[in-house]
Amino acid sequence: MTEATETTGSATAAPLAPCVLVIFGASGDLAARKLLPALYNLAAARLLPEAFAVVGLATRDLEVEAFRDALGQAVRERLGDAFAPELWAGLARRLYFVAGNLRAPETYGRLQATLAQVAAAHGTGGSALFYLSTPPSLFGEVVRRLGEAGLAREDGAAWRRVVIEKPFGHDLDSARALDREIAQVLAERQIYRIDHYLGKETVQNILIFRFANGIFEPVWNRRYVDHVQITVAEQLGVEHRGRYYEETGALRDMVPNHLLQLLSLIAMEPPSSFDPEAVRNEKGKALSGIQPMSPEEVLKWTVRGQYGDGTMPDGAVVPAYRSEPYVAAGSPVETYAAVKLLIDNWRWADVPFYLRTGKRLPVRTTQIVIQFKRVPFSPFRQTPVDHLSPNRLVLRLQPDEGISLRFSAKVPGTAVRIGVVNMDFCYADYFGSQPSTGYETLLYDAINGDATLFQRADSVERGWGVVTPILDVWRALPPRAFPNYAAGTWGPEEADQLLARDGRAWSNEA
Ligand code: BG6
Repeated sequence: MTEATETTGSATAAPLAPCVLVIFGASGDLAARKLLPALYNLAAARLLPEAFAVVGLATRDLEVEAFRDALGQAVRERLGDAFAPELWAGLARRLYFVAGNLRAPETYGRLQATLAQVAAAHGTGGSALFYLSTPPSLFGEVVRRLGEAGLAREDGAAWRRVVIEKPFGHDLDSARALDREIAQVLAERQIYRIDHYLGKETVQNILIFRFANGIFEPVWNRRYVDHVQITVAEQLGVEHRGRYYEETGALRDMVPNHLLQLLSLIAMEPPSSFDPEAVRNEKGKALSGIQPMSPEEVLKWTVRGQYGDGTMPDGAVVPAYRSEPYVAAGSPVETYAAVKLLIDNWRWADVPFYLRTGKRLPVRTTQIVIQFKRVPFSPFRQTPVDHLSPNRLVLRLQPDEGISLRFSAKVPGTAVRIGVVNMDFCYADYFGSQPSTGYETLLYDAINGDATLFQRADSVERGWGVVTPILDVWRALPPRAFPNYAAGTWGPEEADQLLARDGRAWSNEA
């Protein structure tokens, strides 16, 4: 590993203050795959206080021991060799379980009793973080019930906060309605709308890259940037999530949240400080500059796709989306979406931001490509060099996290020849790889009361504001040629044409 030549800032965060984490939907995937492994990692980093406990709630009737064992097993699987049984045992004895229907008021009475019991046993005090990892249709109701049971009330220094998973609504109107509903119970400062992309180290690094370095900001604008590409490509299909996906589709699932969050970090103006409101204000302004699409523009500037069967690069033959479990045989739901967006402000006017995401693409990669303009004039015209490649900065967010800058270099020899080369920074070379699920920072921050990495109501609404016109047109005009890309390929041909019409091409390097 190469050492960073200099590091600045404190190496360790302070341990958290006493509190209880209450997970609604605790028998689900998220608790097992992300939340408990994240708590384990926080415990390993000594960031969890002794006075900390977790109460899981779910409809399934489970004994507390069975609950602890199931999660222990999941954490062990996730961590592999890094799993230390003693460390887990220390966490497991602080796990509790309440079974009950989340729509039933009695469940909240039992939760209250368990919270009192936990506070007495572990000295956790009155602060609680309620984590809503339930089906979205329950978000409003759970918050209402928390309010009715007096569980959302803060008392002196004892805070009560609610983390809400995505999707927050399914379009602009429903997101607004959900906001109105939860605002009856919670103040905005108590609400933490999560977007797990913001928990990823490399996503947070976009802010450091842009605002802790002086050399990029001067060229970060329409004078120098030709266009921006944001790609979230997944190799996985929908797996067992067909039911959810049939209601959602790729656009809703990924664009108003993850992709637009990435866009806002790239497009935002420098904030006046790292204060949550300052950062979120600037992100919000960038999102509000996105040009709303007319129906004609939706037809020209968006592409949807659905995978058919195909062969993945590792040789695995995989079924079409329509053959996945819980998916309708003639499903019109898209598993791929590409859109071209323009931002109306002085920095970005006329610079297209091309966003795409899809399942069953040939590689798993999340990356942002900033493509710079070509040189204004080529002095090499009288030489064999007939083509100059523009510079390209690639932020690789996952996997193989890193940053590379593409530029032209002279190929050694007597003739003038130009080769395209990359200057590469790899996170792991400098900082090793930390065990992380991405949820560590988010849980730590929510418990600590730092909302910088969470979405405010206005940002969620802006996200829906961008995609709702697209959803409206797509609903009115059902797709005609689904499936239109084979699993294991880079999506439908129309997505290539979307850029080709502008004289550009997707960067398909992983
Ligand atoms: C989730 C989506 O929010 O993000 C999934 O619902 C998607 O469909 C996932 O697979 C991608 O997250 P990551 O962290 O694996 O890039």
